[in-house]
Amino acid sequence: MLETRIKQTLRDVADFPKPGIIFKDITPVLKDAALCAEITKALADQLKGVKIDVVAGIESRGFLFGLALAQVLDVPFVPIRKAGKLPYKTIQQSYDLEYGSATLEVHEDAFTAGQNVLIHDDLLATGGTVVAASKLVNQLQANVVAYSFLISLDFLNGKDRLNLFSPNTFSLVSY
Ligand code: PRP
Ligand code: MG
Repeated sequence: MLETRIKQTLRDVADFPKPGIIFKDITPVLKDAALCAEITKALADQLKGVKIDVVAGIESRGFLFGLALAQVLDVPFVPIRKAGKLPYKTIQQSYDLEYGSATLEVHEDAFTAGQNVLIHDDLLATGGTVVAASKLVNQLQANVVAYSFLISLDFLNGKDRLNLFSPNTFSLVSY
């Protein structure tokens, strides 16, 4: 089963980036080309029946499978980045982290009004990151039609926060 193989390939790193956190390191997955191809296909298969105009991937690890997924779906890819990285005119959304806050940005011409946007990231934890990304999509009058993650940490209940934007949340691996 794909979920089991991904779980067996992921590496848990203790105390990164802070003491007490067990980091899900996907770099061993990225080294396995056949597994990556299967992951991209499985991410696309989960979205069958959802009409998607654009895939938005979140910096940085949401870029990895985000672009691959957009290619399979044959739709444009939009990068949502951390503050100060995008060269053209942007709109911003700040969100709370465990300590302090962070800001996401997207180009002001990234989406057009009424477009159906899939938001992709590698991992769903508290949901704070994708909620901020969703607000960026809505600020440009586009719709969030689904979320796609490689990994969902279900015990943190991030999905509950996403229901406000879209009930369609997909992931390949859950903990
Ligand atoms: C991690 C992960 C998600 C986010 C999930 O990214 O890649 O983007 O945290 O957390 P949340 O659901 O609680 O918001 P991180 O901010 O570590 O940045 P990176 O992807 O650039 O490494
Ligand atoms: Mg991230």
